[in-house]
Order: sequence, then C-alpha cells, then structure tokens
Amino acid sequence: MYRLSIHPNTKIGHIAPEIQGHFSEHLGRCIYGGIYVGEKSDIPNTNGMRNDVVEALKNIRIPVLRWPGGCFADEYHWKDGIGDKSARKRMINTNWGGVVEDNSFGTHEYMELCRQLGCKTYVNGNVGSGTVREMSEWVEYMTFDGVSPMAELRKQNGHDAPWTVDYFGVGNENWGCGGNMVPEYYANQYRQYQSFIKDYGATPRINRICCGPNAQDYEWMDVVLNQCFKMAGSQNNNHGFMDGISLHYYTVPHTWEKKGSASDFDEKEWYLTLSKTLFMEELITKHTAIMDQYDPEKQIGLMVDEWGTWYDVEEGTNPGFLYQQNTMRDALVAAINLNIFNKHCDRVRMANIAQLVNVLQSVILTEGDQMIKTPTYHVFDLYKHHQNGTLVESELKADQIGLEEAYMVPNLHESCSIDDNGVYHITLANLSCDSDYEMNIALDSLAAKEVSAEILTGKINDKNTFEQPENVKVSAFTNYQTANGEIAFTIPSCSVMHLEVRI
Ligand code: AHR
Repeated sequence: MYRLSIHPNTKIGHIAPEIQGHFSEHLGRCIYGGIYVGEKSDIPNTNGMRNDVVEALKNIRIPVLRWPGGCFADEYHWKDGIGDKSARKRMINTNWGGVVEDNSFGTHEYMELCRQLGCKTYVNGNVGSGTVREMSEWVEYMTFDGVSPMAELRKQNGHDAPWTVDYFGVGNENWGCGGNMVPEYYANQYRQYQSFIKDYGATPRINRICCGPNAQDYEWMDVVLNQCFKMAGSQNNNHGFMDGISLHYYTVPHTWEKKGSASDFDEKEWYLTLSKTLFMEELITKHTAIMDQYDPEKQIGLMVDEWGTWYDVEEGTNPGFLYQQNTMRDALVAAINLNIFNKHCDRVRMANIAQLVNVLQSVILTEGDQMIKTPTYHVFDLYKHHQNGTLVESELKADQIGLEEAYMVPNLHESCSIDDNGVYHITLANLSCDSDYEMNIALDSLAAKEVSAEILTGKINDKNTFEQPENVKVSAFTNYQTANGEIAFTIPSCSVMHLEVRI
C-alpha cells in the first residue's frame, strides 16, 4: 500500500498557467496544414485557422503560445510576413527541410490565432541574423498606440489597435542555431538588444526572456546572469533587464544520431525514456541554485520554453519535418514533467512543450482535414485544473523500479494543488509497465467528502491513429472508496490520473 500524504496547511506557491504553455514553429506541418490552412481552404476555418484545432486547444485552456521559433526565429525577418500576401517574400527554411516558406503566416496571423485561442502571446525575436533596429521596430509595430512609422505601417496593413505582447524572447538557442555564441558574447548582445524593446506605456509590460542554457550547461546560466541580471540604470524594475531566462531540454531515449522509434519500443526503452525525462528535476534544481545566487527573491522566472520527447521521424516522412507518433510513453513523459514544473512553481513560471501540432511531442496530429488528439493532449486535459492553483505540499514514498540499474525510476509520481474554490486537484502517474499499486490518500486532519476521478491508461505502446482516433482517451474512474476521510483505490500500471477532492 502506498500512501500519498497531502499537507493542506503547507501552501507552496502559485502555479502559473503558463507552465502548461505551447510552442509553434515554422517547421514541417506545424503552422502550415496543422494550424493555418488559409481562408480559401475546404477545411473548416476561421480567418485561415483550423476550427477543429482551435477548439481542441481551447478545451485544454492553452495559456500561452510561443512563435515563430525555435531555430527559425533567428532567421526570421518579420517584415517579410506582413502586408499583401501575394507580394510577401518567399524564402528557404534552411533549418527545417529546405522547403519554401511563403510567409503567408506572419505577425497578423499569429495575433489572430492567439485571439481565437484566448491565450497569451510569446514572440521570439531574431538576434542571430537580425539587427537591433529590426527587433525594436517589430516591438513598435506590434505594441505602439501612437504616431510612429511602425504604428502607421500596422494600420496600413489593416490593424489599427496595437496588440499585447506578453513575452518577448531575445534570440533562441544562441549557443547553437541562433549564432553559435559564447555566453559572454550573448550576454552583451542581450544587454544591447533588450535596451531597445520599449514598453510604450503598454500594459501589461512586455516580459523580456533572455536565452538560457542548453540542458546542463550551468556555465551559460552563470555567465549570462552575472552579466545581465542586475545592472545600474535599469529603467523598469529592480531586476535589471530580464523577467525570465529560458532552459531547453529534450527527452531523447538514445543518441541524437539514432534517437529511437516513437512507437516501436520495448519495456527497457520505456524505463530508459522515463528516467531521461526525470533528469528535468535535477536540471531545474541546479539551475535554480545558480539563479538563487543572483536573484534570491525569485524575481525572474526559469522558462522551460522547449521540452518534450524527440524520436526518429516516422518512416517515409521528411527528416526535416520532425513528425513523430505519440504513445502512452509520451503521456507519462508529459505527466512527469508537468508534476515537476508544479513542484518548482516558485521558480518555473512558464514551460512550452515542443511542439503544438505535427512536430515532436505534439498534442495534436493532422492529416488533411482529419485531426487526432494524442495521449499527450489528454494529459494536458487532466492537468488543466492546476492552472492558477496553489501548490500544496504532498509526500509519497515511491519505490525505484526498472530493468537496468542505470535507468531506475520511481514507480509513482504526483503533485497537488488547491483551486480558488477550495477544491484539491491531485495528479498521479504510475510509471510501471506492468504493476498496479494500492493507494491511499490522506489530507492530514481534513476529511475528503466528495471525490471524482478520471484516468488515462493503456499499454505502453498504445497510441491514437487516424483509423483509431479514440484508442487512448480519458475515462471516468469510479473504483475508489472513501473511509475515515481517506481515499483508497488501485492505480493501474501505465496510467495518469486526476482526482478532484472536496473537503
Ligand atoms: O523544436 C525543434 C528545435 O529544437 C527548435 O527549433 C530549436 O530551438 C531546438 O533545437
């Protein structure tokens, strides 16, 4: 019997909805075909955005969407993507498959998409191949409500009112595809570029996101914060020039050369993958420790703005399109990461799974006019109740399980929050391929009065396909008992649960 103890009096912090954020890049069929089909398409759309995809994303309460990249961001010149579509420049997408990018999805289309989704905006600027002026003018174009060349241009292009830019990223992976910079050089670039991101009195002010490290590159974090975190003459706040710093970490089962199949894997690879995803805990803890040295008051956020699984592409698809299937293994990867982000909500203020549709660990896959929700989608559906909640301390003594010494994982993984109505939301994952576990949940001196639960479960390789779109889906879970204010049930192997508890 495993006991999950929830301590309602120990409230740890606010869970920013942005922790369940998403990322969309001009890559493969993410934007084109996956989200945007154009007004003239036979696929039902509103101003060019697929209605089915928008509806599905609204259902999981998508809080924020990062765009236009990724590596694409540091090759993107925003002026190519505004104005008359027939006159927009065509370019090569050098990072992703060398295909022609016709720029038909640009700033206006992105803002329209976020309007339809009702989500916050996170625009990633170009440091690698752009200029300070280009970035500064983009911000002016999007947010200035007065008389200026860029505001006039926006009006000429049919949008009188400025938009809100909630987050602005100053470059992407500038240690790699964004310019192969060393941290000292990027830090100087960051200081300069961000100086020209003006707020123009916009409310809320634009949150500036500095490019942080690749996985365990702790030196990058240290050098960049040392040079950029606090500087004399900062105009807006007392934490200098940034509101957040990013972290990228992908779960790659094997090597970057041979990553492994998305759906054809065995139990060994199951545990290997989950153990690699659990590394996120160590990364956040260690990066937080460095951040704490510069920012003990936790004024800035760690933004995990790219995470998720990365496998070999599906056979017969363009290797540059990063199209992969999604199974119960991805569901568990999502559950573990979202629990970790919850538990670090004092520092992690945003996280964006890569990527929204048809690329890497997507929540949605499309084929022509068909759309399916992946197992990962259903995890976001189960976890959406944590958004804006307060993290409550929870304790669970898990056992280590696995088939290889180096890749052991805890059998159970959880987090718990309380919402504004005093309802507790517990998310619990069983990482075992084959063992069910008896569970008991107690809330200290409080008694659980009303309980409802839902579950996502299956075999480790189970997935949804266009032929069987509902093979993996959420079901109501009623097989629990309440006695003496505690909840008892058996959690099946390979599953993710959400319990809603009223006291
Ligand atoms: O998500 C795919 C790519 O992964 C992004 O473009 C890049 O930032 C990262 O390396």
